[in-house]
Amino acid sequence: MKIFVSRKIPGEALDRLTKSKHEVIVSEFDRPLAIEEFLERAKGADALLILLTDKIDGEVIDAIGPQLKIISNYAVGFDNINIKEATDKGVAVTNTPSDEVNEAVAEHAIALTFALTRRIVEADESTRRGSYKGWEPGIFLGSNLCGKTFGIVGLGRIGSITAKHARGCGMNVLYNKTKPDRKAEKELGIKFVKLNELLSSSDVVSLHIPLTEETRHMINKSRLSKFKKGSFLINTARGSIVDEGDLVDALREGVIGGAALDVFDNEPNINPELIAMENVILTPHIASATREARNKMGEQAVSAILDCLSGKRPENMANEEVWPNRRT
Ligand code: GLV
Ligand code: GLV
Repeated sequence: MKIFVSRKIPGEALDRLTKSKHEVIVSEFDRPLAIEEFLERAKGADALLILLTDKIDGEVIDAIGPQLKIISNYAVGFDNINIKEATDKGVAVTNTPSDEVNEAVAEHAIALTFALTRRIVEADESTRRGSYKGWEPGIFLGSNLCGKTFGIVGLGRIGSITAKHARGCGMNVLYNKTKPDRKAEKELGIKFVKLNELLSSSDVVSLHIPLTEETRHMINKSRLSKFKKGSFLINTARGSIVDEGDLVDALREGVIGGAALDVFDNEPNINPELIAMENVILTPHIASATREARNKMGEQAVSAILDCLSGKRPENMANEEVWPNRRT
């Protein structure tokens, strides 16, 4: 069967595919493909291994052909794929959540938190510019985390690990999710609150929800106005959860104290005003960029394809309900 891989991924997982009995085509470009380039190579494929930079909807699925059985997304989030249309057409969609990737993203959220509260990036840049003239009592004053309140929006796997780390730093942790999770509350020593209460009580707010129609631009002007004055926003989830224009206004007007963003509304483009702000830290969508996480993501993305093509239900399905009605 034919497998199309839209971009080479790090690690050795791809070897398992290329050594399998299947015909494997890996994009020759080390960049996202334009849709025409993508279709030209993917047409006739039984399986796709794609990245979050590839956008897949029903039209793309139809253009690839009725033999397409599985879309293996090399990512935890799958907002780049129209799941409903894939499901309606009988195409399985899988993603790559694992302890390794969940830890990596949670650790990045905490790293960004420290970087903001201790002004690590500003201080580093200033030191490199040669401005360090000896110990001074008043330079780069930040704030302690211990004793402060950390608010987690979305207590899934990544949110729960982030909660554990925040607790480890001596912070009080509040969380919001669709329904309270009493078991997690006991285990982690955290407290459920309504979203607005979380925003107004937290010194740091970290987003750990998927991008859906309900969460798109959820952090907008009205929600930002609820934030505690001087508080920080951390986003390692999806850029479009935040209205970037409203965030720029909130930062400029001092409604919030700073933001650390790993994801953006219109990647790879970033609002130039954010780039110009000193109280903003920007990383290029690297929260899962550890060798441990990326190796595991590759293993899972490859296993999903090999399992599906041999008739075995893949481990991490984004649309489990498709399995009895899938294309074979
Ligand atoms: C990265 O953003 C992912 O969803 O894995
Ligand atoms: C700082 O270096 C201190 O000794 O307080």
